[in-house]
Amino acid sequence: MSPAVLVINGPNLNLLGLREPAVYGRETLADLDAACIAEGEAVGLAVSCRQSNHEGELIDWIHGARETTDALLINAGAYSHTSQAIPDALRAYAGMIVELHLSNIYAREPFRHHSHISATATAVICGLGSAGYRLALRAVAERLASLRNA
Ligand code: DQA
Repeated sequence: MSPAVLVINGPNLNLLGLREPAVYGRETLADLDAACIAEGEAVGLAVSCRQSNHEGELIDWIHGARETTDALLINAGAYSHTSQAIPDALRAYAGMIVELHLSNIYAREPFRHHSHISATATAVICGLGSAGYRLALRAVAERLASLRNA
């Protein structure tokens, strides 16, 4: 069976393609989800994608992923900079975690320069748009394969 990976997108990412296209690009969330699922198929991962604007719902999904997935990709949007509860939930997740941001948060307003999630993540990718998600899935597939063969 293919390893399972959950891609979680947080607040305002439902507006991808419409919201600040100069920053976040013209691809919609449906485009991003489809690209992640296709990349997963290419590298042997069963990818599912979810988006919510609600912190508690994101936390419930992280809890649910504990028993059902091997890795998480998470773009928590602005909650990355404000939430302590999401990183607490991630600390209780034993699988691989990749934090993602479409934009380069370090080249933007100072409040975006710190993410509480980064310290809980295996890896962080920002500034590459949707390519960052695809690269993350490739890296997850490689890491999981090397753990299986260890
Ligand atoms: C974001 C960056 C955050 O600062 C912002 O609040 C978002 C999106 C990104 O993908 O670049 O909503 O996480």
